[in-house]
Amino acid sequence: MGALDRCFDVKDFREAARRRLPRGVFEFMDRGAERELALAENIAAFERLKLKSRFMVDLSDRDMGTELFGKRIPVPLAIAPTGIAGLCWHQGELALARAAAAAGVPFTLASASITSMETIAREASGRRWFQFYIWQEEELAFQMVERARDLGFEVLFVTIDTALGRTREYNDRNGFTDPISLNARFIADMMLHPRWVAGVMGRYLLTTGMPRHENYPPQYQQRITRGSAVAPANSVRLSWDHVRRLRRIWPGPLVVKSILNADDARQAVDCGADGVVVSNHGGRALDSAPATIDVLPEVVAAVGDRTTVLLDSGVRHGSDIVKALALGAKAVLIGRATLYGIAAAGQAGAAKVLGLLATQFEKNMGYVGCRRVSELGPHVLFRRQN
Ligand SMILES: Cc1cc2nc3c(=O)[nH]c(=O)nc-3n(C[C@H](O)[C@H](O)[C@H](O)COP(=O)(O)O)c2cc1C
Repeated sequence: MGALDRCFDVKDFREAARRRLPRGVFEFMDRGAERELALAENIAAFERLKLKSRFMVDLSDRDMGTELFGKRIPVPLAIAPTGIAGLCWHQGELALARAAAAAGVPFTLASASITSMETIAREASGRRWFQFYIWQEEELAFQMVERARDLGFEVLFVTIDTALGRTREYNDRNGFTDPISLNARFIADMMLHPRWVAGVMGRYLLTTGMPRHENYPPQYQQRITRGSAVAPANSVRLSWDHVRRLRRIWPGPLVVKSILNADDARQAVDCGADGVVVSNHGGRALDSAPATIDVLPEVVAAVGDRTTVLLDSGVRHGSDIVKALALGAKAVLIGRATLYGIAAAGQAGAAKVLGLLATQFEKNMGYVGCRRVSELGPHVLFRRQN
């Protein structure tokens, strides 16, 4: 029996990922910032929200698709940018991109990925989006964006919640660093996970060498290989001018990621963004951030009529997608759920997670009596009155 045969829900994929990955990698991928309040709240808020069933509806003619940035997708989801995918599986970004392409949904490559944007552009078909952060060395970050543009990436995401970095105490305890450094604790952790050493780290070492952030300029890649882990610092001088500047150099759809209130949403759209992602980085940034599903209505009320509102953080089930769309999101982004999938079984694992979410979504749409996503609205939601 393979790992996938035991996976019937995202929780099962998470458990398979936990068994397979070194603790440092698993915790980096799975956990939240600081006290992990936002991580828990994202999931709890989805669970608090209930759906009203409507039966005796003819469900024989259903279509779960929608249009996103001018193109149709069969189910309203896309894969979120996650810098760690290449440590969950050898060239995990490629596995995710291929699974997404097979499912007909977009894949977002994180600038912090291990697999380069050139490799993704060459070896993965389908819709490819690119995400980046604005660094203190702004020009270097903008050069990366121009590379992505020249390679034909379709949509650009700029993630704006990183000025002061993140506090992840569990990584201080377990010895895992990003970029990777081979300290004694991480080496001991790897020894306990020989399948990962052989299948992921070993494959890198035997082929391309120690994993590097391949999209970064050479000076940052070299520092990693020399053993002193140095990452480009994020800018502490962010302003909406950065979004205006991006608007001038990026010809395609531009999306601002990490919006949690109406004011920021309006600013983003006024600066030329074509979309916003209501996101608290999956509970990995501000620990006291509200759940994204709870602030979605405020953002939709502010900009929903003039921009594409996406949502992420906490989506673990197809019913969560129904809830997000009912409150006005056009689609959701999936972060950890597909990471669990690749950690368990590479492309096949991600494909199974995507299939699972699509099936759950379709079934829950049926339960609320909707045949098209356009039929969804707040009327399908039920909130307890206390
Ligand atoms: C391990 C990990 C790495 C991430 N790396 C990035 C990144 O490089 N850039 C970015 O914009 N968001 C990053 N994110 C955030 C995701 O894009 C997304 O907002 C989040 O995972 C959604 O929450 P979910 O994991 O609950 O689905 C990362 C998330 C995780 C879990």
